[in-house]
Formats: sequence, C-alpha cells, structure tokens
Amino acid sequence: MKIKVWKSTGLVLAANLSLVCGLQAAEIGKSLYVRLGGQSAIQAVASDLVDRILLDDRVNNWFAQAAASSANAAAYKSKLSDFICQNTGGPCNYTGRDMVAAHKGRAVTSEAFDAVVQDLIAVLDNLEVPSKEKRQLLEILGPLKASIVQK
Ligand code: HEM
Repeated sequence: MKIKVWKSTGLVLAANLSLVCGLQAAEIGKSLYVRLGGQSAIQAVASDLVDRILLDDRVNNWFAQAAASSANAAAYKSKLSDFICQNTGGPCNYTGRDMVAAHKGRAVTSEAFDAVVQDLIAVLDNLEVPSKEKRQLLEILGPLKASIVQK
C-alpha cells in the first residue's frame, strides 16, 4: 500500500513538474508581440509615441506632415503600429516603405534619433511595459539607427 501511495505521489509530482515546465516553455515561446499585449497594446505604444513626438520640440520639425491634420497623424500612427507589430512577430502586414527609403532625404540627425528613442522609453514606462519586453523592443528598433540617420 505504501508503495502505491509513493508511486501516485511521484506521478502527481512529475505531472506538476511537467505542467510548470510546460507553462514556462509556453511563456518563453511567446512572441514579443504577444508579451507586449498584442494589437491593442502596440497600437497604444504607436499612438502615444506619435503624440509625444508631435509635442517634442527637439524633433517635431520633422513631422510637419503628420501634424498637419488628425487624419495624417492617424495614418502615421497606423503605419508605425503595423511596423512594430510585424517586427515583434505579430500578424500584421506593414505596407510602408523600408526604413532607408522612408527616411531618405529627411536629414534625420543622430540626436533626433536618440530623442525619439527617449520618447519611446517614456511611453513604454508610462504604459508600464515590463523591463524585459522594453529592452527587447529597444533591441529591435535601436539598430535601425544606421538606416534612419543617413549621411
Ligand atoms: C526606431 C525609430 C523609427 C522608426 C521605427 C520609424 C518608422 C517609420 C515608419 C514605419 C514610417 C512610415 C513609412 C512610410 O510611410 O512608408 C516613418 C515615417 C517617417 N519617419 Fe520614421 N521612424 C523612426 C525614427 C524616425 C526619426 C528619428 C525621425 C526624425 C526625427 C523620423 C521621421 C520620419 C518622418 C518625418 C516620416 C514621415 C511621416 C509622415 O508621413 O508624416 N523617423 N518612420
């Protein structure tokens, strides 16, 4: 009888252990898009970022077109959202230009790029995005600097 009890306890422990490991594996396997909170969270990031950029005197000179009407601002937010969604493993289809073409001739400076990254960090902090996901998003967007800041 004792052996039976041990056996079943062992089975329960093993089952629990595999469940815990399975849950951890599922969490690890989730895309950044999902861990950020999916479509609505990414739309909020893009929308808040554009709002913040338009108020930021260090960079808003570049965004006269987006600032010209609420329809323009909405179109830009939507493109930025699709771009972030697609690049974090989400089910979106970004149809805008690649980063070199989109920023060609705009004379974006290194300082302006860094200011936009600071705005993004402020938005992510404000939305209480956890530090791991914040770091991973910045690791995806940071290296775009070379394509966006052009000589
Ligand atoms: C990681 C940083 C950045 C990302 C991911 C990004 C992404 C994008 C995307 C997806 C578009 C739309 C392209 C299209 O319509 O085909 C865009 C447009 C644009 N970007 Fe960036 N960008 C970044 C940084 C910057 C910076 C630092 C500046 C200037 C300070 C800038 C200025 C612009 C402007 C002026 C447009 C056109 C907006 C409009 O249509 O009104 N971008 N960007």
